[in-house]
Amino acid sequence: MNKIKIAVIGLGRLGSFHAINLQTRIFNAELVAVSEINETALANFTNKFPAVKGYKDYKEMLKDESIEAVVVASSTSTHATTVIDCIKANKKIFCEKPIAVSLEEAKEVQKIVDENDAYIQLGFMRRFDKPYVKAKAQILKGEMGKPVSLLAISRDPGCPPIEFAKHSGGLVNDMAIHDIDLCRWLMESEVKEVFAHGGVVKFKELGEIGDIDHVNISMIFENGKMALIEASRNSAYGYDIRTEVICENGAVAIGNIQDESTIYKIPNKTYINTIGGFLERFEEAYFNEINVFVENIINDIKPSVTAIDGLKAIQIADAINESLKTNKIVRL
Ligand SMILES: NC(=O)c1ccc[n+]([C@@H]2O[C@H](COP(=O)([O-])OP(=O)(O)OC[C@H]3O[C@@H](n4cnc5c(N)ncnc54)[C@H](O)[C@@H]3O)[C@@H](O)[C@H]2O)c1
Repeated sequence: MNKIKIAVIGLGRLGSFHAINLQTRIFNAELVAVSEINETALANFTNKFPAVKGYKDYKEMLKDESIEAVVVASSTSTHATTVIDCIKANKKIFCEKPIAVSLEEAKEVQKIVDENDAYIQLGFMRRFDKPYVKAKAQILKGEMGKPVSLLAISRDPGCPPIEFAKHSGGLVNDMAIHDIDLCRWLMESEVKEVFAHGGVVKFKELGEIGDIDHVNISMIFENGKMALIEASRNSAYGYDIRTEVICENGAVAIGNIQDESTIYKIPNKTYINTIGGFLERFEEAYFNEINVFVENIINDIKPSVTAIDGLKAIQIADAINESLKTNKIVRL
C-alpha cells in the first residue's frame, strides 16, 4: 500500500511531537517535509531526520504536489491563513486547535472549506483519548440515562511561554476550548447561553498582554441541561484534567492527577507523582488522532471532528469572552 506523503508546519512543543510520531510510529504515513520559521528548530529536526526536507517558508513546501496532507501545528495566530493556503494548494489538513484566533477568521476558514469541499480534521484530541472515548461509549449505551450536567476542570501547571500566550487567543480560546468541545460532544446539545468570571490571580505577565490565568464558566444548553468549566494556569502541583458527566441514573468521571499507579509510602509522607503536562497526559491521544487522520484518508472516510466543530467552539469561546468583558449572560 502507498503511504500518505505528509508534511508538518510548525515544530514547536506539539508540532515536533506530531512530526516525530509521523516519522517513527505512524506506519501508513511518510513524513516528507517540515516547515518552521525558527531556523534553529528547523535545523535541529532535519539534522536528526535528514530524509525529511526542511522549508523556512511553508508556501514553498505547499508547491510540492506529491504532498497529500499537512499537519498545521504552528502558532494559533497563523492557523486561519495557513489552513486557507493549504486548501488552495489542494492538501488534506489536520489543524491543531483552535481553528483560528477570532470568530471572524474561523468563519472565513469555514467559508473556504465549504467552497472547496476541503478535507480537514481538527485537533480536539480528547475525543481520541481512551478514557474520554470510553466515557462517551458508556453515555451512548444509555444505561445511565441521558446526560443532565457536566463539570470540567482544566488546570495547567504554570504560565505558558509568553511568546506562545501572545499568539494563543487567550485562556478561553487556547485552553477552555477543549472543555467547550467536550460539552458539545458529551452533552449532545448545543450551548444556548454562557456566563463567565475570570481574571489574573497569579501570573501578572499574562495580565500585561491582556490575557487571564483563571476562568469559571457556566453554560446552559438548548435542551436545558447545564455545565460548569474551570480553566486555569495555576495548578503548581501538576497538570490536572478532569471531567464528570452526571446522567439521569448515574455519572461518569474521567481523569485523575496521578501519573502512575505507584504510591510512595514514607513515614509521615505518603505521595504519588502528578502528571507534568499535556504531552504526558495526552501522549496516546495525540498519536491516535493523527493515526486516525492518516487511516481515514487511506480509506476515504470523512473526518469525525471537523472545521464546523472548530467554528462552533470558537463561537462559544467568543460568547464567553464577551461575558468576561460585560459581566453579563451572553446568548448564542
Ligand atoms: N491539542 C492540544 O492539547 C495542544 C497542546 C499544545 C498546543 N496545541 C496547539 O498547537 C499549536 C502549537 O502549539 P505549541 O505549544 O507547539 O506552540 P509553540 O509556540 O511551541 O510552537 C509553534 C511553532 O510554530 C512556529 N511557527 C510560527 N509561525 C510559523 C509559520 N508561518 N510557519 C512555520 N512555523 C511557524 C513557531 O516558530 C513555533 O516553533 C497551537 O495552535 C496550540 O494551540 C494544542
